[in-house]
Amino acid sequence: MSFHIGAGYLYCEGIRVKDLQNTVQDSPFYLYSAAQLRANVAAYADALTGLSARISYAVKANGNLTLLKILRDLDCAATLVSGNELRLALLAGFAPADMVFNGNGKQRDELALAVQYGVTVNVDSEFDLEHIIAATRDAGKPVEVLLRVNPDIQPDVHPYVATGMRESKFGIRAERLPWFLDRLKREPRLRLVGLHCHLGSTIKDVQVFHDAAVLMGDLTANVRQQGFDLRYLNLGGGLGIDYERAGTSPTPADLLDALRGRLPDDLTLIIEPGRSIVGNAGALICRVIGVKDNGDKHFIVTDGSMAALIRPSLYDAYHHIGFIEPVNGMPYVFDVVGPVCESADFLGKARVLPTPHEGAGLVVYDAGAYGHAMSSSYNLQLRPAEYLVDGNRVTQIRRAETFDDVALAQSPLSVIMPPIESADGQP
Ligand code: LLP
Repeated sequence: MSFHIGAGYLYCEGIRVKDLQNTVQDSPFYLYSAAQLRANVAAYADALTGLSARISYAVKANGNLTLLKILRDLDCAATLVSGNELRLALLAGFAPADMVFNGNGKQRDELALAVQYGVTVNVDSEFDLEHIIAATRDAGKPVEVLLRVNPDIQPDVHPYVATGMRESKFGIRAERLPWFLDRLKREPRLRLVGLHCHLGSTIKDVQVFHDAAVLMGDLTANVRQQGFDLRYLNLGGGLGIDYERAGTSPTPADLLDALRGRLPDDLTLIIEPGRSIVGNAGALICRVIGVKDNGDKHFIVTDGSMAALIRPSLYDAYHHIGFIEPVNGMPYVFDVVGPVCESADFLGKARVLPTPHEGAGLVVYDAGAYGHAMSSSYNLQLRPAEYLVDGNRVTQIRRAETFDDVALAQSPLSVIMPPIESADGQP
């Protein structure tokens, strides 16, 4: 069991979280369960049994190096969205042949790195294709590419996390494919090995994956007719998780059931889950600073804030909130907020919770994906530490940002531009 309650206390596997909170200096901090991470990968691996398929973990969801190493050891590949993610994936030990580099604005130095290492690159636009071609020319090396198609499918999610609709900034419209194929025919260094699409994130209705598989299967057949030897179909990530704890979220098995029979047998399926791998394997552990009310409105103020976890503020996302220890005060409807000087700073709204004592431990569940990864040091709230539990062992897998980190990065150590001198030699 990963996160569970026993006698009023939150446990992460064999560790009582309150004991950990009392031991470490940091607050808030992120806490991960290795067992949950393994279970999530196993659920995908089981669902994929009998298919030629690859789980390509979306590093953007959580790029902690220790977690990446665990995922690599579980035979995941890596989906990347920047040159720095590529560097980190190399550090974690992923083989370049197991990486896919995505993005609508890949920069020339990032493409140079991808080509140099032999990473598969997704083509997102006309200019992106030209930049990839230039990178292969500069390096004198070939590269395998996928064409990212914009499937124009409405995934019924928050507009900020929908990526595969006509008005999205990602991918190529199906009507433009002939142009890309003609261009690719003239560039022998680029080897088109498959098509890619990504519908969006937090998807609860697996029917949309079915629709995407049908569309992408048809497009694959068309592209093959033009003589391209396609080997992969990459359907992206996007499976939602049970943030609401309603027990109704689709599982990897539901996702694969929606795809089964819709995929050409001679293609390797790539899927790129992020959230459904790390989301419920992580929680944000905070401390209550105090409780206040403004007339009818009640607030629990914690040291966790939108700087540590921005999803509630940015997407109005729901994360389940509880206490890590017995709390027996009078219940009220609370907004759970942080100390950041902004009304958008909340972790949860209108939650019925008992009134906590100062210093009580509070947990924001399912924060493993896009939690630390999207944290900031806004208001100079320093980015939190991360801890990993594996059985009865806890390891610190990232130290918290320190004031020195922030201050030293801003010391004027060098003068970048010499002052401009006027004609008379005076500055
Ligand atoms: N592949 C591609 C090309 C992607 O753009 C993404 C995520 C994924 C895979 C992984 O999707 P997942 O399985 O994690 O849903 N910050 C937002 C999520 C943005 C996701 C963007 N793309 C959030 O906190 O909900």
